[in-house]
Amino acid sequence: MDQDIDRVLVHERRIRDRVAELGARISRDYEGKDVTVVALLKGGVVFLSDLIRSISVPMHLDFAWASSYGDGTTSSGNVALRVMPDTSLRGRHVLLVDDILDTGRTLARVSAELRDRFGAAEVKTCVLLDKAARREVDVRADYVGFEVENVFVVGYGLDFADRYRNLPYIGVLKPHLYAN
Ligand code: PRP
Repeated sequence: MDQDIDRVLVHERRIRDRVAELGARISRDYEGKDVTVVALLKGGVVFLSDLIRSISVPMHLDFAWASSYGDGTTSSGNVALRVMPDTSLRGRHVLLVDDILDTGRTLARVSAELRDRFGAAEVKTCVLLDKAARREVDVRADYVGFEVENVFVVGYGLDFADRYRNLPYIGVLKPHLYAN
């Protein structure tokens, strides 16, 4: 897999240090509150598993899975939940965790659903990567690991055609691999 990577954008060690910092901040901010971490499948799970081990306050864990649907070749920008949280979120403080904030459609839509449909009292968001140059919806994450440039990144949960999620670092995929 390493041979498909043009360059490493965020090394394993930097990810580890930053995730620990985020976990410490989250632990301070949620002191005395009962937080439910909701992770977005699939990409968010690698980040999630490291992040929650840096969170020192009591927490609950749940999952959701959102997908875009469109005309097949381009996304229509419509995002729907295809896996719902399993526990009641009514009145709860939710921290929504995902790997990357790109156009912003997923985070905006899922945050709104967790509030409006599932009754969360508060939804804050935590992403490992923020690709601000791609933003189409006015959404900001409360906790951000790294701002990244507009390049195709894989690894640490992020995929191309469902591959590369298990790379321990964030890398830029060689363009010829996704050009067609
Ligand atoms: C990716 C990523 C985010 C979303 C961000 O998920 O994991 O959830 O896209 O994009 P947006 O800001 O433009 O909405 P993807 O649909 O690739 O699913 P996956 O996590 O299962 O790979």
